[in-house]
Amino acid sequence: MPTNTDLLRQIKDDLLTNSKLPLYEYRTANHYFPVIGEGSHEAKLLCVGEAPGETEAKTGRPFCGRAGKILDELFASINLDRSKVYVTNLIKDRPPTNRDPLPYEIEVYGPYLVKQIEIIKPRIVATLGRFSMRFVMEYAGISEPQLSQTISKLHGQVLEGQAPYGPLTVIVLYHPAAAIYNQALKPTLIADFAKIKQYVV
Ligand code: URA
Repeated sequence: MPTNTDLLRQIKDDLLTNSKLPLYEYRTANHYFPVIGEGSHEAKLLCVGEAPGETEAKTGRPFCGRAGKILDELFASINLDRSKVYVTNLIKDRPPTNRDPLPYEIEVYGPYLVKQIEIIKPRIVATLGRFSMRFVMEYAGISEPQLSQTISKLHGQVLEGQAPYGPLTVIVLYHPAAAIYNQALKPTLIADFAKIKQYVV
């Protein structure tokens, strides 16, 4: 019986070698790494960002640049050890100039996230930013009217969804990078993040 680590390694191998991925050529031309994810392979909580930035693509590690510093502050604010969580992104390769992911990229990279969710089987997914919010809400069967609401309406909400393996709670958060450009958002992010605490103790 393969372990979660074995199954996650298969995803890594596929991402490393699949030359049909839309950002594969951009990755290899720049000597970047795909950013698969990091943390506990048995995590109760999965955090899903948008796509790697340059620091992440250069190291292969999620949220290790400026946005990662803010994410670390959020973990510290609820006394949660980051190694107990699994942190990943919807898109596994850095988009040029950190532009928004394209629909086709979400279509191709999204199934890798679904596989990761179904291997780790978290009870809670915290979405960081509007792209992962929308994707995970759809995955968890959260429908209208929430599905088409904006992140400024939904942030801080705890939504009860369903995964094939059981109930899945989705917690909607702003992307940590939003607090780099708008310092006033930091207290909101901290207050929203506090909602995670009851699920991870
Ligand atoms: N922003 C993201 O969405 N993910 C990262 O890994 C880093 C920055």
